[in-house]
Amino acid sequence: MTTTQPITNWTADRLDDLSGKRYLITGGNSGIGFEAAAHLRRAHADVLVAARSASKGADAVAQLKRIPGGGAVHLIQLDLASVESIRQANDAIRTHIDALDGVINNAGIMQTPQLQTADGFELQFGTNHLGHFLLNYLLFDLITARSGRIVPVSSIAHRGVPGINFDDPMFANDYSATKVYSQSKLANLMYGLELARRLEAAGSAVIAVTAHPGYSATNLQSTGPTGILKAIYKVTNRLLAQSPTAGALPEVLAVAGNGARNGAYYGPTMFGDARGPVGESHISDAAQDQDAAARLWALSEELLGITWKIA
Ligand SMILES: NC(=O)c1ccc[n+]([C@@H]2O[C@H](COP(=O)([O-])OP(=O)(O)OC[C@H]3O[C@@H](n4cnc5c(N)ncnc54)[C@H](OP(=O)(O)O)[C@@H]3O)[C@@H](O)[C@H]2O)c1
Repeated sequence: MTTTQPITNWTADRLDDLSGKRYLITGGNSGIGFEAAAHLRRAHADVLVAARSASKGADAVAQLKRIPGGGAVHLIQLDLASVESIRQANDAIRTHIDALDGVINNAGIMQTPQLQTADGFELQFGTNHLGHFLLNYLLFDLITARSGRIVPVSSIAHRGVPGINFDDPMFANDYSATKVYSQSKLANLMYGLELARRLEAAGSAVIAVTAHPGYSATNLQSTGPTGILKAIYKVTNRLLAQSPTAGALPEVLAVAGNGARNGAYYGPTMFGDARGPVGESHISDAAQDQDAAARLWALSEELLGITWKIA
């Protein structure tokens, strides 16, 4: 990867005027995704909010339009837990635009009970990793047209597993809501780093920059978790978490900040990377395993029935 100065203490006031730039944010109707869209809109960018719920998406679009900024705001219906919906979203995006400056793979679910996507994948791995892998593959020509950026969104939780469970990637035999979430976030980071290597090897002008929001109080902690976990999050969200506005900054840096580097991993840098000034974050040894990353790429292609060769 190209060597540049590490970024420290990054804030949104370092954004250029983004007039004419276009960004797609999955899960842009809620939490960190909504706040990332708001930061981009304040910098005058056009934003495409991808949401699985039409009504929540429409509310978010209305709120974003009220933020002074001036760029266009579009709603795209997208359910990452359905290959058909992802393919329809790809078509819908192309009715609005013919090029993209960046895609933030922000949407996610955490610690859900054992459930499946419409295509039979375990829900967290299917939504958080496979859905975004397919979406990025489909949109790659639009991103290439603007020498744009792909921003996978990981988590401190990526450190919670020692690697991808290739023997049982869907945890069909021994389901753990927490391990499956950690694995999906490890997959997000491994994918971001592997994509960066492949883009560089191909001499592409597209870059892959991974981000994580630290610990931010959002709907994530109440949508998926149940029982005691959900009760604990109610307390820790009040005592320990930062705001989603702060949590969105690493994503915004990754997708639109000057000097963001192909293959970088940005997030908060204090309290175990849970909050604080935004800069380079810590990557686990497992996430740096290049053989495993190539295997994850091949597994993702096989499960989705696609071949993604970056030329
Ligand atoms: N909050 C944190 O502390 C934290 C920490 C580390 C990483 N993250 C990551 O940050 C990202 C954003 O999470 P958040 O904290 O902002 O949570 P959030 O407020 O719950 O937002 C998650 C977004 O993802 C959407 N989503 C869920 N399943 C989807 C699907 N099948 N198709 C399309 N969209 C879907 C949600 O839609 P609905 O509104 O319809 O549910 C929502 O818009 C996630 O990737 C998460 O893993 C968060």
